[in-house]
Amino acid sequence: MKTTVATLKKMKEENNKITMLTCYDYSTAKLMDAVGVEILLVGDSLGNTMLGYENTLPVTMEDMIAHTAAVSRGAKNALILGDMPFMSYQTSVYDAVKNAGRFMKEAGANAVKLEGGARVCPQIKAIVEADIPVCAHIGLTPQSVNAFGGFKVQGKSVEAARTLIEDAKRVEEAGACMVVLEGIPARLAEIITDTVSIPTIGIGAGAGCDGQVLVYQDMLGMFTDYVPKFVKQFANVGEVMSRAFADYMQEVKAGTFPAPEHTYKISDEVIEALTKEKNA
Ligand code: KIV
Repeated sequence: MKTTVATLKKMKEENNKITMLTCYDYSTAKLMDAVGVEILLVGDSLGNTMLGYENTLPVTMEDMIAHTAAVSRGAKNALILGDMPFMSYQTSVYDAVKNAGRFMKEAGANAVKLEGGARVCPQIKAIVEADIPVCAHIGLTPQSVNAFGGFKVQGKSVEAARTLIEDAKRVEEAGACMVVLEGIPARLAEIITDTVSIPTIGIGAGAGCDGQVLVYQDMLGMFTDYVPKFVKQFANVGEVMSRAFADYMQEVKAGTFPAPEHTYKISDEVIEALTKEKNA
């Protein structure tokens, strides 16, 4: 059954935890969808994990559309959440609606995510009025890396915590259907989760949220440029891949790959004819 925003609302009401993972390609989408992950987030984190940028700022709408479309083709049941890249919604309400629409029309997304609290409420409201579900994202918002002066845990002082609670209320009022809480203390995430009626999805925000999200290369040990404290490595796929790449090299160099079973046959008559021609 396809996950919808109604499914997610019900899951919060029934205290049924929501799973979200980042996903950027067709094959991975098929695997995640098959095990029932409810939300595939085509995060602008692809700037780091897929494109090798230092942060998410260079990611374009074109990058996001191509990857979101690939994920949509691979997933039947998961809700596809397209992440609005830097400067695709900050510039104006018009740009926000237009670019959110592109995720739906060109990439098959079911909802979009954007970073920010109260200050992006006009954008959230306008996108929702265009019948596009919106997931908000507050706390450590990576597109604000320069304004924050680095990737720092947010909401630690009374004032900062109050602002985040207020941000969560405001995005709900503006019509957001869920909110990602990133890099905030677990106790504060619990308070926010109890305060709003929309689902909260935590990343570095403790177990008290309505759901969790991780960057899939982080949880599979495939991205080691930096590993945040909140990441749990569920498998070391990076090591498995490295071993397979090394084995492949070794077999090609030794001439043991490809073996006969990996090879196409041709009849002896054809080879004989070719040999005669060559020797004539
Ligand atoms: O881009 C992304 O992957 C995200 C998650 C970290 C929530 O925004």
